[in-house]
Amino acid sequence: MEKQFKRTTITSALPYANGPVHIGHLAGVYVPADIYARYLRLKGRECLFIGGSDEHGVPVTIRARKEGITVQQVVDRYHTLIKDSFERFGISFDVYSRTTSPTHHKLASDFFRKLYDEGKFVEQVTEQFYDEQTGHFLTDRNIKGECPRCHAPEAYGDQCEKCGATLSPEELINPYNAETGNPLVRKATKHWYLPLDKDQQWLEQWILGEHKEWRSNVYGQCKSWLDGGLRPRAVTRDLEWGIPVPVEGAEGKVLYVWFDAPIGYISNTKELCDAHPELGSWEKWWKDPETRLVHFIGKDNIVFHCIVFPAMLKAHGEYILPDNVPANEFLNLEGNKISTSRNYAVWLNEYLDELPGRQDELRYVLTANAPETKDNDFTWDDFQARCNNELVAVYGNFVNRALQLTQKYYEG
Ligand code: 2FM
Ligand code: ZN
Repeated sequence: MEKQFKRTTITSALPYANGPVHIGHLAGVYVPADIYARYLRLKGRECLFIGGSDEHGVPVTIRARKEGITVQQVVDRYHTLIKDSFERFGISFDVYSRTTSPTHHKLASDFFRKLYDEGKFVEQVTEQFYDEQTGHFLTDRNIKGECPRCHAPEAYGDQCEKCGATLSPEELINPYNAETGNPLVRKATKHWYLPLDKDQQWLEQWILGEHKEWRSNVYGQCKSWLDGGLRPRAVTRDLEWGIPVPVEGAEGKVLYVWFDAPIGYISNTKELCDAHPELGSWEKWWKDPETRLVHFIGKDNIVFHCIVFPAMLKAHGEYILPDNVPANEFLNLEGNKISTSRNYAVWLNEYLDELPGRQDELRYVLTANAPETKDNDFTWDDFQARCNNELVAVYGNFVNRALQLTQKYYEG
């Protein structure tokens, strides 16, 4: 028989604060999670719906440099815009906080420190590309060079956009800093790794054995990661923006954004519960085996929520693991991929400004056309047709008739 839980903690992926949210985010994550939260509340079930902005990582720093403003200004701007858009759209979060909050910095830092003190990490020194003129280590996307395959002059450290080859930065001919053009050298640097290879066995048993009911896209991606054999993953980076690694001698290093962001779900729950004692302690929502934890995410987040975060939670030892991770596929726009960096999207804030009072139409179309089992396409023609034919004609007609009959035969 299916396990009965007392309460549900619902999380929805924390959007990067490097741009507004768009209809792809809504269709894939926030509308489904909101439907589930509203459903549980209607059933009178105890639940919390947790959201917040993901304010660390490289994309926010790139945006800040491009615009000539500070990273703090970037995340302040987009956190406010995103939070406000969600509110106006009617996503019913119980809390919407951010990963730059002091509560989060402390919780993520303590989480790392506990694992560090208990010897759960592996330390490793590797050579990374370094810009001697700016004094920075670079991430793969910030490195460019000549493609070793097609010899295009501007391939990225992770991919050549000309020939499509997947690359690693060491393969590039004459690598340079994509932003400054400076040549790069290799320099040794120490990082802390989560030894996922040691988690292989229990993860196989837990996911492949005990969670056959997970969606086939989620199960399938997990299986292919597990079949490929898990390897240790670095959870720290040489960057200035982020949560400092709380270890002596780790100056100039921060927690990897994918280490701190999911802990943000916990910190945001803590902020909420600390402010609302009637909800009980935050620990009840994260540590009691009678709590059901459900993560709503997009398909690009599967490995982090099904493998990496559970491995972190297990290593910590006090937390429950997710009972389900409903991940959706992507929504395209008029046949093309939605992209924040290429500024190609229907942005939620613009939709709300330009079509005031039309929240339900968008909510309906994104639900009817949700990319649950495959990528779907959003088009304005389809939006118009669904509003006219389904909402107005079918549903409107149904409501109209029901009201008329009630009036006629039951005195209103
Ligand atoms: O893919 C993204 O947009 C990430 N910012 C999601 C993070 S989810 C969680 F871990 F916070
Ligand atoms: Zn190439």
